[in-house]
Amino acid sequence: IQLTQEEMKRVAAYRAADMVASDMVVGLGTGSTAAHFIDRLAELMHKGSLKDIIGIPTSLKTEAHAIKAGIPLSTLKSHPIVDISIDGADEVDPQFNLVKGRGGSLFREKMIEGASRKFVVIVDETKMVACLGGSGLSVPVEIVPFSWKYTLSKIEKLFKDETGFSARLRVDQEKPFETDNGNYIIEMFFEKGVSGDLNEVSDRLLRLTGVIEHGMFLDMATNVVVAKTDGSVIILN
Ligand code: A5P
Repeated sequence: IQLTQEEMKRVAAYRAADMVASDMVVGLGTGSTAAHFIDRLAELMHKGSLKDIIGIPTSLKTEAHAIKAGIPLSTLKSHPIVDISIDGADEVDPQFNLVKGRGGSLFREKMIEGASRKFVVIVDETKMVACLGGSGLSVPVEIVPFSWKYTLSKIEKLFKDETGFSARLRVDQEKPFETDNGNYIIEMFFEKGVSGDLNEVSDRLLRLTGVIEHGMFLDMATNVVVAKTDGSVIILN
């Protein structure tokens, strides 16, 4: 068999759903892969195989989806410790460092997944990369809208020595894209991927005035469920 990318996403999501047990507080990811997980979780709950699940949504979109699917929801405020979070990613490197946030929900994802005992990433094999940012996709950064051009220029300055680096504001229908927190997103493009010590790059970005968070999720994932085109699944831990 030769699975399509959508089928691979579903296969990975279904396998991850088997890692959820009754009575768990579950972080619900955002994006097309996480959407398959939410559907499967709801199905297992309705069948009675999973009982007393509480979901913590990582975005307004996921919240709406989970409500429709009939999953009881709560917040980090009421449930500060999450048993397991399951979410997709845009890129996964060999150390399980991730790029996330193409859906723009990186801030809430990072908070909830960071508060989780287990953080399971569900991907199809096309998301596995040697180096973050190396596949031509952007690394997103959430910034405060106030003087966004100033923050953008600071980001450009930070990476001025990286050959082929570029950064721009994410737009949606000719308007700045707004996150669930009312912020903007800067897309950073690295021609050869993010170089150097990723933790250092992260620290330097977070120190810039106006930067809220970035989409590099370092040392956070505990398991990666990878679905392959031949229909097989590997679980990395
Ligand atoms: C949402 O903000 C993102 O972090 C997603 O988890 C990521 O972009 C993966 O999305 P897909 O599962 O749709 O590829």
